[in-house]
Amino acid sequence: MEKLVIRGGRKLKGTLPVGSSKNTALPLMAASILAGGVTTLRHIPVLRDTQTFSHVLRVAGAFVDVEGHQLTIDATRIEFPEAPYELVKKLRASFYMLGALLGRCGRARVSLPGGCAWGPRPVNLHIEGIKALGATIDLDEGDIVATAPGRRLAGGSFALEPSSVGATVNILLAAVTAKGTSRIENAAIEPDVVVFCEMLKAMGARLAGVGTRTIEVEGVDSLTRVNFANCPDRIELGTFMIAAAISGTPGERVRLTNARADHLGEEFLHIFRRTGTECVIGDTTIDVTAPEVLQPVSVTTSIYPGFPTDLQAQWTVLLTQAHGTSTVTDTVYFDRFNHIPELNRMGVQARVENNTVTVKGGSVLKGARVMSTDLRASVSLVLAGMVAEGTTHIGRIYHLDRGYERLESKLAAAGIDIERVQYDEFAAPPSR
Ligand code: EPZ
Repeated sequence: MEKLVIRGGRKLKGTLPVGSSKNTALPLMAASILAGGVTTLRHIPVLRDTQTFSHVLRVAGAFVDVEGHQLTIDATRIEFPEAPYELVKKLRASFYMLGALLGRCGRARVSLPGGCAWGPRPVNLHIEGIKALGATIDLDEGDIVATAPGRRLAGGSFALEPSSVGATVNILLAAVTAKGTSRIENAAIEPDVVVFCEMLKAMGARLAGVGTRTIEVEGVDSLTRVNFANCPDRIELGTFMIAAAISGTPGERVRLTNARADHLGEEFLHIFRRTGTECVIGDTTIDVTAPEVLQPVSVTTSIYPGFPTDLQAQWTVLLTQAHGTSTVTDTVYFDRFNHIPELNRMGVQARVENNTVTVKGGSVLKGARVMSTDLRASVSLVLAGMVAEGTTHIGRIYHLDRGYERLESKLAAAGIDIERVQYDEFAAPPSR
């Protein structure tokens, strides 16, 4: 097994390159099987999640060739319209195959995702939305078995409550090749969904209202393959901005490249600047300059363009470095706080009550052995290790590898003392 070892206290400096978006890549990969022939996707990050999704596509019958950050997906023959439990359990987004296989083949057998590191993370809206398009849905041995009467969905209307990224994606995957028109009310407007819709349009889908809460779809008989480029990762961008705010040298600029500031949403940028951190936005860069003293700014997460839930763990670490007490409330996921007990081991004074964590800033963090529990919790431990006194060992970083490509290489190149090492989780730690 691998872990990260971080010797804290080094200053982040120079340049940090932002990778390509994981949460956009996955819907793009699902969309690739809607058309026969060979689809090329560029700027796909090399992550455990994209590798798992490539395997999901192969199980359905596609041929997927990965060359660096470019995928070539030959979806000429999709002979096995299914996504098995073993894969959907590993990657919830595999559930997108329900809409994609219905849109391509008119039938699908896709496992329900099962549990998650935090939750509940239901998929009822995905299922109800696809039923509204005319699919018949059965549950068989943990799998959703969906069929379009006459092998082609009719189309229909559905209102999402609450708004859901995944459900918006899944319903669109099924609706674009339906016989008739469809309408999604309270659709997600995250950049991941907008870029995904741009790909669908490039394939010949007829969509109106993309980026608004109401999306109209006029079904088409078939879609054509495309060569399409993914966008930068807004959550990695936000993570790096927080890293620069807490571990940059006050007054010295850290440059983030391949940065789409408009994908962050106004709320995050506004709150980030309220900490006293300078933030200069260029065409494809953001220059972040840490202040002498960070101001504590409490946040409440919400759907886009609100403060992203995927940045709440990272923000908590920033608050530990600010002087004063503040809170982080998650209204999207009420119990996404598995990182707090691990941060407590490093001296973080934070307490969770319901869906709010109260953080007492100004405490000195001390390096410790800690354990990753999920993707964004893992990266919050990396941020804490960067500013802690002493050495931090972060175990089970396979969670981190789901969503951050070469993180330790990027940080090491920007001044941080961090390395990836093999370790035996059950070996006794070295004597003091
Ligand atoms: C996407 O998950 C992201 N994953 C998540 O990022 C992100 O945290 C989440 O959106 C919210 O922004 C991908 O894009 C692959 P939702 P998704 O459906 O689509 C409720 C990461 O760290 N809901 O927008 O699963 C749900 O409980 C991951 O990169 C239902 O009630 O999230 C939540 O409260 C973690 N019924 C709210 O909607 C449903 O059928 C938003 O969830 C579906 C969702």
